[in-house]
Amino acid sequence: GVPFIVAIDGPAAAGKGTLARRLADAFGFAYLDTGALYRGVALSLIRAGNTDPTESEATKAALRLDLALLKHPDLRLEATGGMASRVAAMPAVRAALDALQRRFAEIPPNGAAGAVIDGRDIGTVICPKAQVKLFLTASVAARAARRVKELQDKGLAADLGAITAEIEARDARDAGRATAPLKAADDAHLLDTSDLGIEEVFATAKSMIEKAR
Ligand code: C5P
Repeated sequence: GVPFIVAIDGPAAAGKGTLARRLADAFGFAYLDTGALYRGVALSLIRAGNTDPTESEATKAALRLDLALLKHPDLRLEATGGMASRVAAMPAVRAALDALQRRFAEIPPNGAAGAVIDGRDIGTVICPKAQVKLFLTASVAARAARRVKELQDKGLAADLGAITAEIEARDARDAGRATAPLKAADDAHLLDTSDLGIEEVFATAKSMIEKAR
């Protein structure tokens, strides 16, 4: 039958990835981190020494995206995220990554019965018919603190003030752009995770999916 799609959108560092991975594991669904695609485009440009790409340069990088790059340790750097949000505001870059995402939702890999897909525009643009849509939010303070902890756990340096500023800049750019801005779909469940642990967020999301199946 039609794959069961769980769309998870929300701002930077709201906990989308952790939740998406847990849900995919629990239901045997495939998982696609669409932010990693934009980060991959950004990283390929950064590695080529192009930190101020035109739309056409960024689009070429998107069309030639080497999926092996999505495993590069620099993919998670805040600098890569910042550059990702700049190329993600370019309509032709989004169009270049569109087909790959839609194909994943139509035919999830490895014969999975469904997919969990996270990003900014999954419930609104990529999978408007997703059976379950979640929109995760959290205060800037909670998200910055989480990002600092994530970086520290990886043994990387983390400055709370700088990360707070970067998250705010990225949110403003993602929500303010003309094409596929960050926003909750009308039929999305809003989940504020500021004061919730991952177990509570997971349990809430899991029961929403069970109800919808
Ligand atoms: O989710 P993550 O922080 O890895 O995403 C990096 C950037 O990629 C975001 O700030 C956003 O600008 C962009 N993005 C997007 N649409 C998506 C996923 C990510 O515009 N579906």
